[in-house]
Amino acid sequence: MKIEAIKGMSDVLPPESENWQTVEQLAREVFRTYDFQEIRTPIVEPTELFVRSVGETTDVVQKEMYTFKDRKGLSLTLRPEGTASVVRAYIQASLSSKDPIAKLYYFGPMYRYEQPQKGRKREFYQIGVELLGAETPLADAEVLMLLEQLFLKVGVTDTNLEINSLGCKNCRPDYIKAIQKFLKGKLNKFCDDCQKRSQKNPLRILDCKKEGCRKLTEDIPLVSDFWCVECHQHFREVRGLLLAGHVKFKENPRIVRGLDYYCRTTFEVLSDRLGAQNAVAAGGRYDGLVKDLGGPDVPGVGFAIGMERLMMLVSTNPEPRTPNPKPLIYFALLGSEAQQKAMSVIQELRAKGQSVGCAYGGSLKSQMRRADKLNASHVVILGENEVVKGIAIVKEMETGNQKEVLLGRLVEELS
Ligand code: HAM
Repeated sequence: MKIEAIKGMSDVLPPESENWQTVEQLAREVFRTYDFQEIRTPIVEPTELFVRSVGETTDVVQKEMYTFKDRKGLSLTLRPEGTASVVRAYIQASLSSKDPIAKLYYFGPMYRYEQPQKGRKREFYQIGVELLGAETPLADAEVLMLLEQLFLKVGVTDTNLEINSLGCKNCRPDYIKAIQKFLKGKLNKFCDDCQKRSQKNPLRILDCKKEGCRKLTEDIPLVSDFWCVECHQHFREVRGLLLAGHVKFKENPRIVRGLDYYCRTTFEVLSDRLGAQNAVAAGGRYDGLVKDLGGPDVPGVGFAIGMERLMMLVSTNPEPRTPNPKPLIYFALLGSEAQQKAMSVIQELRAKGQSVGCAYGGSLKSQMRRADKLNASHVVILGENEVVKGIAIVKEMETGNQKEVLLGRLVEELS
């Protein structure tokens, strides 16, 4: 009898495997320009990790996990996604005590027992990114700019970024109550899944793909009407930074996501060329997750790209590029205006292949210490005075020499 691959799992054969390598190499180059480093975690984890992070009531945990007992009776699961494993590793290795900021990326297979169809597999690869330790909206914007840059680098220019904020633990309970109130009296018109969701995970009703349920939720209350002051401010700043970084996006208040750990910013990258499974990447902020899994109270934000879906969009063979490592330039930024001013310069430098890191908060002194720790060759200092004068101070770390450079000339000066 012929032995074949398991349903929903495929081989990547040459020459297609060459294209995968090229895309992975280009992704690594983009990660370098954003100063992210690779993490590799096991494919198998204790089942409890995903139950506690992805969420007990989610489809992923309830219906889609490959779970089995090992020879000692321990319940193990093939990872359905990467974030939980990265957070587990981050806590286990006490990474937060070594560095307040962790910028990590990963490549690898994930497993979900879904009904296979075009773009939906039981084994699929993800390219993922997790930025841990920064609560500032600048971190959300950076991760989104990285995502955009990666798509540009592999020649995919026709995707659409949609963003939303799911609020936080303070304001979301009121939103959930409002949804439950809205559902009262009409629940029997919804599909069986939505009826179950209304009890355990009412937000997911917004995500039902069934036409009937979608029609019924046309007038459902929107999360934006329930954001607290802090969530409003956070989302406003993310939007401002994306605009400053020339990242195109659309706000979609119906994005809810299928994993429970999200708070505030959530997003999806969609393509019209993918058919029904149209999300090529997705992610968001997950500020309570590290703490919920027994670690310190460290915020996080990240995304994952579905590799099979990305490869469907990469039509022609992407040009391989040779990595050309250059030393890091670090931006010490004081205040949100300085952050906004720096956005387009940082984007341009990274697009030219330059590694650029930036501060996510703290005093100038602590930002300079960090630049030193990261071995930056130059630090660009931008505070309120500099913004007013339209200049930045560029400091060469080896000699300690520093000079004032007009903001409009920064890219030229640093390239
Ligand atoms: P996710 O939305 O579950 O998020 O998956 C991210 C991407 O993986 C999807 O947009 C899609 O491209 C791809 N994907 C998911 N399921 C399948 C499947 N069955 N077949 C093929 N491709 C699939 C996460 O996994 C989060 N961990 C993302 C994240 C990282 N959030 C914060 N950090």
